[in-house]
Amino acid sequence: MISAIIYRSTTGSCEFLAREMSRKLAIPCYSTKNLKLPKGMEVIYVGWALAGKVVGLSKVMKDYDVKAVVQVGMSPVYPGAEENCSKANGLAGVKVFVKQGRFDINRLPLPFKLIMKAKCKEIAAKLEAKGNLNEAEQATLKMAKTGKGEPPCWDVEDVVDWEKANRNPLDVMKWYEPID
Ligand SMILES: Cc1cc2nc3c(=O)[nH]c(=O)nc-3n(C[C@H](O)[C@H](O)[C@H](O)COP(=O)(O)O)c2cc1C
Repeated sequence: MISAIIYRSTTGSCEFLAREMSRKLAIPCYSTKNLKLPKGMEVIYVGWALAGKVVGLSKVMKDYDVKAVVQVGMSPVYPGAEENCSKANGLAGVKVFVKQGRFDINRLPLPFKLIMKAKCKEIAAKLEAKGNLNEAEQATLKMAKTGKGEPPCWDVEDVVDWEKANRNPLDVMKWYEPID
């Protein structure tokens, strides 16, 4: 039974998505900062993409039973993104979702700001060369060119539907078990 949603966020996307999931699923959400949940608890983890890795995931996987991972990045979500995330982060047997989040270079710590200044030029050049961009790609292009931007949507319905479909109805009974 998934009992918590854990997130790590620098510019607010993972926090916003985790809060949305929490509200729709009635499962509490917590930042990785000062996390004091019982070890081994079943959780969903929401973390941002850094060069293909989900930031904070390995520590959370050591302490908790991660049933699903939501990777959030500035990139548009291309077909096969979930599989790539799964391979890059060693997530065999774990459900993976990939979502587009915001980018805001001015809210990043200096080392990340410097890395992304160079990376954004590369991303913008690639997208401009591609042309005929869809909404998500246009959003990424704006992020890369201006240093700031939002994705076209913040939908969490797929995660909500997955959690509800995989819920064991008998788990509800635990809420009514008497406390000794
Ligand atoms: C150093 C660094 C590396 C990043 N690498 C990736 C990446 O590989 N793929 C991607 O889609 N986004 C990448 N991003 C963008 C963030 O994942 C994106 O802005 C995300 O929405 C941030 O989540 P947050 O708002 O919860 O902090 C990177 C950002 C930084 C600062």
